[in-house]
Amino acid sequence: KRSEGLGALAADGSNNYSALDVVIEGLRRLEYRGYDSAGVAVVADGAIESRKKAGKLKNLESELAERPLPESFTGIGHTRWATHGGPTDANAHPHLADGGKLAVIHNGIIENYATLKAELVAKGVTFLSETDTEVAAALIGDLYRGAADGDITRAMQLAAQRLEGAFTLLAVHAEQPGVVVAARRNSPLVVGLGEGENFLGSDVSGFIDYTRRAVELGQDQIVTITPDTFEVTDFFGAPAQGKEFEVSWDAASAEKDGFNSFMEKEIHDQPAAVADTLLGRSDPSGRLILDELRIDAAELKKVNKIIVLACGTAAYAGMVAKYAIENWCRIPTEVELAHEFRYRDPIVDSNTLVVSISQSGETMDTLMAVRYAREQGAKTVSICNTNGSTIPRESDAVLYTHAGPEIAVASTKAFLAQITAAYLLGLYLAQLRGNIFSGQIKDVLADLNKIPEKIQTVLDNAGSLRELARSMKDERSVLFLGRHVGYPVALEGALKLKEIAYIHAEGFAAGELKHGPIALIDEGQPVFVVVPSPRGRDSLHAKVVSNIQEVRARGARTLVIAEEGDEAVRAYAEHVFYVPETPTLLMPLLTTVPLQIFAAELASAKGYDVDQPRNLAKSVTVE
Ligand code: AGP
Repeated sequence: KRSEGLGALAADGSNNYSALDVVIEGLRRLEYRGYDSAGVAVVADGAIESRKKAGKLKNLESELAERPLPESFTGIGHTRWATHGGPTDANAHPHLADGGKLAVIHNGIIENYATLKAELVAKGVTFLSETDTEVAAALIGDLYRGAADGDITRAMQLAAQRLEGAFTLLAVHAEQPGVVVAARRNSPLVVGLGEGENFLGSDVSGFIDYTRRAVELGQDQIVTITPDTFEVTDFFGAPAQGKEFEVSWDAASAEKDGFNSFMEKEIHDQPAAVADTLLGRSDPSGRLILDELRIDAAELKKVNKIIVLACGTAAYAGMVAKYAIENWCRIPTEVELAHEFRYRDPIVDSNTLVVSISQSGETMDTLMAVRYAREQGAKTVSICNTNGSTIPRESDAVLYTHAGPEIAVASTKAFLAQITAAYLLGLYLAQLRGNIFSGQIKDVLADLNKIPEKIQTVLDNAGSLRELARSMKDERSVLFLGRHVGYPVALEGALKLKEIAYIHAEGFAAGELKHGPIALIDEGQPVFVVVPSPRGRDSLHAKVVSNIQEVRARGARTLVIAEEGDEAVRAYAEHVFYVPETPTLLMPLLTTVPLQIFAAELASAKGYDVDQPRNLAKSVTVE
């Protein structure tokens, strides 16, 4: 499954909460990662007790109210985003094996589950679900009774050796109270270290209420936790190491803070997200200080091609950054959807710098593309928002965005922070290679440092935009146009509306419309147009104003995002939303915000859950 909430506790009961308290709280914090079903299992009185329900966590909580679990201090829990098998009670995790004495939860996809299932059926094992997870559970159970001779860690090691694909598996056994064992390959898993208790989670938010001491695990590792110990081995039992770190944020920052959704909160977090990403990465003289970028300067000077790898919103951040990086560094920069990259036999060598952009650091498409690029000899830099995640660990260097935890499935503050970090990287490369003068870098940094307050201005002036959004809640199609750095913004604006309001929306390069898509325009068709600064270079502005006229002439409702003082657009716009004046390359950091607000407000007006939109999950950890 691409389940996303793996929560677990092994404790000695010295604290005043049970395994179930911890696991349910952890699942609530992790639910944004996948929410088709939820389930828990605890070890109590020599038995496994388990409850699981399709739908959101609240369905499981109702089930637990009707059929409570016994008190226990060893438990696991899981929220699921369905891949093999629909979101039903039977397919929900945990899955049981070994006569109901073993409970297993899983994140990922086991690619050889059919072969393993056939082997187990031949041994007389019966299955209740259509999931790959139940096969993994049966394999662990079979090995526990067989070769592992009642050692749950050994059983997990032997099982992991047989499994192919991506998986994080957690298991508890009725005969092993106080023990939780896990195996991970590709899918995320971190350990939380408490006092007299230890935790496992898909990410630190699963146990952030109890500890900020965490251990990042590596590839192909097994971890066994008890109330006072945690032991890491490889799949063959050899001792291995995790990497301990302190979580940089606290439980409070993973709350809504009075906003009616995480998305609204995170939209309003954007001034801080940009400011925090800039903080400490340059000095007053305009020199970039990116000590965390551990790639030899000589290597970076040899770079003759940059490939940005990402998916979804992160890819649009890369598309925005491309304009700036090529402008400053004069290095050819390609932006590639990660899931397309390795299947097109790309041209990559040791002079290629691959920049992956990923909020979660766990997107499997991006991880696999980064791995492929490294195998081809590229240097890799990860722009990531999640400390302890997989993609940074598998990259040569990482430039963290400091946007804080992004809980809403639809990315907002991470997007602006990703652009900001990519700009810092571009300026750093330009500084290193002498492409642009420190004076120019200093000017760009000065303009970047004004962005947070300008975002705040946009946030403060969004009233009329919110009214428009509510008035448009029944629209069935909205188009978005942009040119130059405004084009990826148009794509992002369309994605937001698709993701959370389920409205068909499409972003276009403004110049492309007349080559076909303009046929879509009929009376009343809403069209957002992201207009570049009239002070910008070339006749970019004039061309986009022409594009507005072209669609308006055919009956479109023209909804324009433009720079303060741009009077030229007024004559052709039904509505104009102004953003403060800023250099063209930095405009996406402002023009995106009205489109985020529009989507969030419209989805709310439709009564949708903007934080957990249907069919989606925050981190797509399968290919
Ligand atoms: C954005 O709103 C979506 N949630 C999605 O496109 C996301 O940006 C994409 O899946 C990449 O995720 P990542 O940044 O965690 O790699």
